[in-house]
Amino acid sequence: MIVLENVSKTYGGTVKAVDNISLTVNNGEIFGFLGPNGAGKTTTIKMITGILSPDSGTITVNGKDIRKEPIEAKKQFGYVPDDPNVFLRLKGIEYLNFMADIYSVSPGDRKQRIENLARRFEMESALGDRIQSYSHGMRQKIVLMGVLIHDPSVWILDEPMMGLDPKSSFILKEMMREHADSGKTVFFSTHVLDVAEKICDRVAIINKGKILFCGRIEEMKEQFKRNESLEKMFLELTENEE
Ligand SMILES: Nc1ncnc2c1ncn2[C@@H]1O[C@H](COP(=O)(O)OP(=O)(O)OP(=O)(O)O)[C@@H](O)[C@H]1O
Ligand SMILES: [Mg+2]
Repeated sequence: MIVLENVSKTYGGTVKAVDNISLTVNNGEIFGFLGPNGAGKTTTIKMITGILSPDSGTITVNGKDIRKEPIEAKKQFGYVPDDPNVFLRLKGIEYLNFMADIYSVSPGDRKQRIENLARRFEMESALGDRIQSYSHGMRQKIVLMGVLIHDPSVWILDEPMMGLDPKSSFILKEMMREHADSGKTVFFSTHVLDVAEKICDRVAIINKGKILFCGRIEEMKEQFKRNESLEKMFLELTENEE
C-alpha cells in the first residue's frame, strides 16, 4: 500500500512539478498513473522512492515513512526507473547477483528466481553478456528482473512497457495481474491508455502537477455520463486544463 498526503515539489523555486497531491494505492490493485508529458508522474514516483524529497507532505509505503524510515520503506518496494541504462559494464548475471546481494536473497531463492525470470523474459542466452551490448528492451527486461529478484511487495514502475516487444509486454502485464491478485500492490505510469484501460483497477490522471481524476474507469465514465474510451476522456480532461 502506498499513501501520499498533500505532497508538493517545486524545482528550482519556480516549476511546481507536483502540486499538493494525495493518493492511496491499495493492496490487491493495479494502479495506473496517467498524464501528459511533463505532468509530474516521474517526479511523484521519485518522491515515493526517496530519490527526491518532497517540499511538503508525507509518503508511506506499507506504513513506513520514506523520509523517517528510509531503509524500512525501501525494503517494501521494487522500483523500475524510466531510464533502464544502469550498470552498463556489468554482465546481466552480475547485475542480478548484485541486486540479490543488496536485498539479501538466499542462494536457493536467487537461483530459482533467476531461472524463472530469464525463461519468462527469454533472457537466458543474454545473461553472460554485458548490459552495454543489450538493446533498449533487453535493458528494460534486466532492470525488471533485478527488481523482481527480491520479490518486493510493492512494485513501482515508471513506464515499464516502453520498448518491450509484444510478448514481453504481455508477460509483464500477466505478472502485474498475478502480483495484485496475490494481495500486493502495483503502481505504474504509462502513456499507453489501451493498456491502462485493460489492466488497471484504478487510475489517477495528473496534469500540471494536479490530480484531475482518481478512481475506477467506470467511475470516470459515469462522471462523463458517456460510454467513451479512456483515450477520449483523457484527452478531454487534460485539454480542458489548458
Ligand atoms: N530535474 C529537474 N529540474 C527542473 N525541472 C524538472 C526536473 N525534472 C522534471 N522537471 C519539470 O517538472 C515537471 C514534471 O516533470 P516529470 O518528469 O515529473 O513529468 P512526467 O509526467 O514524468 O513526464 P513524461 O510523461 O514526459 O515522462 C516538468 O515541467 C519538468 O520540466
Ligand atoms: Mg516521466
